Amino acid sequence: MRTRITELLGIRYPIVQGGMQWVGKAELASAVSNAGGLGILTALTQPSPAALADEIRRCREMTDKPFGVNLTLLPSLKPIPYEEYAWAAVEAGVKIFETAGRSPDALMPIFNGAGAVVIHKCTSVRHALTAQRIGCAAVSVDGFECAGHPGEDDIPNLVLLPRAADELQVPIIASGGIGDERGLAAALVLGADGVNMGTRFMATREAPIHQNVKEALVGATELDTIHLLRQLRNTARYFRNSVSMEAHEIEKHKGAELTIEDLAPLINGQRGRKVYEDGDVEAGVWTASPVSGLINDIPTCEELIARMVTTARQILNERLAVFA
Ligand SMILES: Cc1cc2nc3c(=O)[nH]c(=O)nc-3n(C[C@H](O)[C@H](O)[C@H](O)COP(=O)(O)O)c2cc1C
Repeated sequence: MRTRITELLGIRYPIVQGGMQWVGKAELASAVSNAGGLGILTALTQPSPAALADEIRRCREMTDKPFGVNLTLLPSLKPIPYEEYAWAAVEAGVKIFETAGRSPDALMPIFNGAGAVVIHKCTSVRHALTAQRIGCAAVSVDGFECAGHPGEDDIPNLVLLPRAADELQVPIIASGGIGDERGLAAALVLGADGVNMGTRFMATREAPIHQNVKEALVGATELDTIHLLRQLRNTARYFRNSVSMEAHEIEKHKGAELTIEDLAPLINGQRGRKVYEDGDVEAGVWTASPVSGLINDIPTCEELIARMVTTARQILNERLAVFA
């Protein structure tokens, strides 16, 4: 497959593994890159910029293919040394960055100085246009379906992708709701140059998370996610479990009076981390998307990517027959 994304990133297939807090480590990123996609390490999963540099070195020992680093620029109770993380990655030789959350404007001189490519992930056409204007080489467009932070506009990819394709000149990566070959084929038809997946890559053999989490995704349906934090304009999608439902009840009860302190003990990131490490899927909140409804197995990254590419080609060929 050759698209503007495979050309830009120097990869074989236009399939990207998006940044994932506590999940995006060297084991997964290298497996995706070895399978011909683009694996991405999540910078803030590492406790310090120096630890990120070590993780980049570890990933490089596991693959000789390109991989990237995600920097997620979101509000945080504790200040995060974003510039130091960016410098650590650049100095370790990283040439591809995925940014998300706030605009990466302030970090662009660091990335540009290193000749690195920046893919900004955002949830609206207006933010994608800003990313293009400030020099991002591509955008990932995260539709309403996505895991993590879907933004506040609630536009699903069936509309968001063609809207983005109408307005943008830079290559577009479709993100959110893609879990198999049908999603890949549809994204290409809607005007994307590639796809980005999070939830589907969690349920792969190489994802460095507890087997219970992978099996929870296999067992779940598309109904098993819930949005929290809408009142605080920081909407996040979580897997439906006892903790996310308790937080949801607090939100309903507090209404307009809700503050982040009301939810902090429940949505605490360290509790989420325990889910992935210890396999207690009720230990805290963790994010996933309705793609869980499409997950029926736990393949290797290579099996997943190979079957997506092969079957997407078949689907597109077969569907052409309707014009006969
Ligand atoms: C467990 C998990 C953690 C995530 N953490 C981050 C993150 O730290 N930064 C980020 O930019 N996106 C994060 N995402 C979003 C993904 O990179 C991707 O945009 C999203 O999963 C796409 O939607 P999908 O899950 O339907 O494929 C996360 C997704 C998952 C499933």
